[in-house]
Amino acid sequence: MTLRPFRLSDVPFVASIVAEALHEHYDPSLYASLGAEWSDGFLIAADSHDTPVGFLLGVNQVERDARILMFAVDREHRTQGIGTLLMSTFFERCRARAFRRVTLEVRVSNATAIRFYTRYRFSVVDLLRSYYSDGENGYQMARELS
Ligand SMILES: CC(C)(COP(=O)(O)OP(=O)(O)OC[C@H]1O[C@@H](n2cnc3c(N)ncnc32)[C@H](O)[C@@H]1OP(=O)(O)O)[C@@H](O)C(=O)NCCC(=O)NCCS
Repeated sequence: MTLRPFRLSDVPFVASIVAEALHEHYDPSLYASLGAEWSDGFLIAADSHDTPVGFLLGVNQVERDARILMFAVDREHRTQGIGTLLMSTFFERCRARAFRRVTLEVRVSNATAIRFYTRYRFSVVDLLRSYYSDGENGYQMARELS
């Protein structure tokens, strides 16, 4: 498994896993514009054929804070350490930019992701009512970087 920067040819993969795993639908042009803002924050995990199997999209909207906007691994490739590789590499990129904090939002029903983030020392800092487009509540989680 290798990590590489996002490319425009990854848009169909990213859009389909966002729909399947995150149950959200965005204009495909969003990915290119967010990727252009902080290219090191948009990581693609690809197999030996360079086929994408997972991604993490982080943004830097607040000074010295990173926010994980989207994070997913293809169902067939989960629990093999790819999410851990994406997350640990993302933290390295954040430290390289001297960021102080990483935040994210997660559906309250998403126990798998909440457990994953807790292992990464994120904690819940806020309840976001009707945060998702289908009305589900979210948690905002955050972790300080040292
Ligand atoms: C959250 C998500 C990205 C994690 O990706 P992943 O590739 O499965 O992550 P990992 O394989 O690194 O770790 C997942 C679990 O498998 C375990 N694991 C990792 N490698 C393993 C291996 N070789 N054998 C057995 N278990 C393993 C990890 O310890 C971890 O357990 P934990 O979460 O109980 O601590 C993935 O579950 C996903 O895409 N979910 C759907 C989308 C989603 O919910 N995204 C988050 C939205 S906020």
